[in-house]
Amino acid sequence: MRKQWVLGNWKMNGSSQSNRHLIDGLLAGLDGQNSSGIGVCTPSVYLSQVGERLIGSPIALGAQDVSEHSEGAYTGEVSAAMVADCGCGLALVGHSERRTLHGETSELVARKFRQALSNRLMPVLCVGETLEQREDGVTYKVIAEQLDAVFDCCDANELALSVIAYEPVWAIGTGKTASTEQAQEVHEFIRKRLAEKSQLLAEKVPVLYGGSVKPDNAKELFSMPDIDGGLIGGASLDAESFLAIYNSTEVIG
Ligand code: PGA
Repeated sequence: MRKQWVLGNWKMNGSSQSNRHLIDGLLAGLDGQNSSGIGVCTPSVYLSQVGERLIGSPIALGAQDVSEHSEGAYTGEVSAAMVADCGCGLALVGHSERRTLHGETSELVARKFRQALSNRLMPVLCVGETLEQREDGVTYKVIAEQLDAVFDCCDANELALSVIAYEPVWAIGTGKTASTEQAQEVHEFIRKRLAEKSQLLAEKVPVLYGGSVKPDNAKELFSMPDIDGGLIGGASLDAESFLAIYNSTEVIG
């Protein structure tokens, strides 16, 4: 059985005060019944603050990005070793906002993926097509290219340590969610690509859905056979809605 995950992506939101409030709300609301993974990806400047409050809790700490470099003269960059040092257990790589707003190519994302792995972080590889690409009928081609850049530089044992997040760009922050069928179709495609690398990988690697996931659509999305949880933006900034989404995963055992 694959592990389910619900990860919050705070993006460029928060302050020391609001972070405290949000984390306290999450810790107070966790009931200990849910065995799925839960994590929050905070802005890098707040990783230490949030990390300290999460010590001893089931909530994992994540970075939203890492540098492709290990160290050196790269002003403004934050390395995978640094975020691991701040207590991170995972890192997003290739979020669509990085790909589209910062020109990140799939090759660059693959180098970031490797940096995360080398520093014992669970890489969460984000993939997804734009509206134009969907309308042009090239969704699968785009996803395959984004996956292959990473699959080609890692062996199956390394990929087994990762999570994939499918986030259609047209559904991020827009209030438009992919229908459960649309999402499931792409998740099934990703699962098949994993199986081509190794059947065990297909069985092991969680594939999360992201893009306007809310408490009222989470359960239906997460009930699909190839959707193993979600990557949540806007709704992760409110403890009650993030917990409601987390509690929409299946409780196993
Ligand atoms: P959203 O963002 O839930 O606000 O659509 C998801 C994401 O970008 O990870």
